[in-house]
Amino acid sequence: MRDDPGMHNALCEQLGIDVPIFAFSHCRDVVAAVTKAGGMGVLGAVAHSPKGLEIDLAWIDNEVGDLPYGVDLLLPVKFNDDGAKRTEPTDAKDLFPPAHTAFINGMLEQYDVPALPPDLAARGGRMSVSPEAAGTLLDVALTHPIRLFASALGPPPEDFIRKAHEQGAVVAALAGTAAHARRHKDAGVDLIVAQGTEAGGHTGTVSTLVLVPEVVQAVAPTPVLAAGGIVKGSQIAAAMALGAAGVWCGSVWLTTEEAETHPAVKQKMLTASSSDTVRSRSLTGKPARMLRTPWTDAWEAEGAPAPLGMPLQTMLVAEAQQRIGRSAHNEGTGANDLATYFVGQGVGLMDRIRPTRQVVEEMVQEYLQVAEMFAAQVAD
Ligand SMILES: Cc1cc2nc3c(=O)[nH]c(=O)nc-3n(C[C@H](O)[C@H](O)[C@H](O)COP(=O)(O)O)c2cc1C
Repeated sequence: MRDDPGMHNALCEQLGIDVPIFAFSHCRDVVAAVTKAGGMGVLGAVAHSPKGLEIDLAWIDNEVGDLPYGVDLLLPVKFNDDGAKRTEPTDAKDLFPPAHTAFINGMLEQYDVPALPPDLAARGGRMSVSPEAAGTLLDVALTHPIRLFASALGPPPEDFIRKAHEQGAVVAALAGTAAHARRHKDAGVDLIVAQGTEAGGHTGTVSTLVLVPEVVQAVAPTPVLAAGGIVKGSQIAAAMALGAAGVWCGSVWLTTEEAETHPAVKQKMLTASSSDTVRSRSLTGKPARMLRTPWTDAWEAEGAPAPLGMPLQTMLVAEAQQRIGRSAHNEGTGANDLATYFVGQGVGLMDRIRPTRQVVEEMVQEYLQVAEMFAAQVAD
């Protein structure tokens, strides 16, 4: 142990961290900063190419030295199975229903979103969700000293768990219900992330306050991390009171100094209240919590087409999102209005830009204040 600010527990001991604060982020700077602050940074790698992942992991290795960090992959249940090859559609445009394309084009026209310059290629909307793509990313990750592998959707495949364990890593998986959590445990997962509906990104319908004790009870003695809506140290104290061994946060890092969040979206997050998010299938095809904007409203409006499945919806909207992102910094424009991104209800508590390290330090201080208050009450 490097330092014991007063939150050290058995899980910290097992993973070699000071405080049980886990940070999911797509941004390598955030991952490294949380790890260096005593928690554990976990890099979200679903949108990485194998080459990009190699570059980011080598950078993190260099930044954090021997300190532990993790990687999160979106693993399909069928991962290394029967050789029934499923490839990512390469020319996905052929698969898009014309009504969907017309709907998106109509929205971009209505909001006056400029086209991409001719010299800029449209991005395809990468999501490595096929067994082959996720397997390649895992192989890249296995060449680095990863201490924790996390799986976002569904129980991680047997082969994945075996490879991670051979490397001495801990396997975590996200669960939105107690039934999911039991399935993860049965599959051999070491650490369950009980993620309530408040969370940013793909999320279920049960609140963190209800889900955490339910999952703790369902999988004991497997350790559980609480996720969904956690932005402050007092909420960490609440999560620990519910039986969690630590917390797993995603949204709070989006407004840090290091975060690569689009500046226009960062600004919206700083002023948004907890009522300004919505679960929408409009970006990935699965319900994911994000900022409510005219983009999400349009997909809910009467006559809007039903979003496609995953990963097709991501590919369908990729170019539109790229166009919006390129112009969203101009306030008062339609692109600025439409801009959205994944974030949880905790956004209402995210009202200033701070360095990532400071976020971790303030969380620890607030947690200790609450813990001391409880201790004093018991002692009286
Ligand atoms: C921008 C964003 C993207 C996310 N993408 C993923 C992902 O690719 N894989 C995953 O396991 N979880 C993902 N999540 C969920 C986080 O891992 C985490 O469970 C969640 O953010 C916790 O709730 P909070 O947002 O209220 O902190 C994402 C969350 C956010 C905010």
